[in-house]
Amino acid sequence: MPKITFIERDGSHRDVEVPAGTSVMEAGRDHGLDIEGACEGAMACSTCHVIVDADWYDKLEPASEDEEDMLDLAFGLTKRSRLGCQIEMTDELDGLTVALPKDVRNMLL
Ligand code: FES
Repeated sequence: MPKITFIERDGSHRDVEVPAGTSVMEAGRDHGLDIEGACEGAMACSTCHVIVDADWYDKLEPASEDEEDMLDLAFGLTKRSRLGCQIEMTDELDGLTVALPKDVRNMLL
């Protein structure tokens, strides 16, 4: 199963293994990380905002226009920001490293 390393807000690292096809948002949420996924992956909340490690960012499928639009509204946007619900884990992404941003903005509120 592919592994994801999450860098939490306090800087600590958490490795989780998930079946291929699981999104980064689901992986984090299922393992008790502080990632909300308030809209369940409908690209309507940005609470699944993650910052992808520089070594991994270019290996991901590019963000769709809708994802870019939602990210523009995310708190603490960076050049390597993505919506965790839009990154689907594959065996090729084994070892993917993402950081949780310092804060999130929930567009559903
Ligand atoms: S879970 Fe809402 S945008 Fe990803």
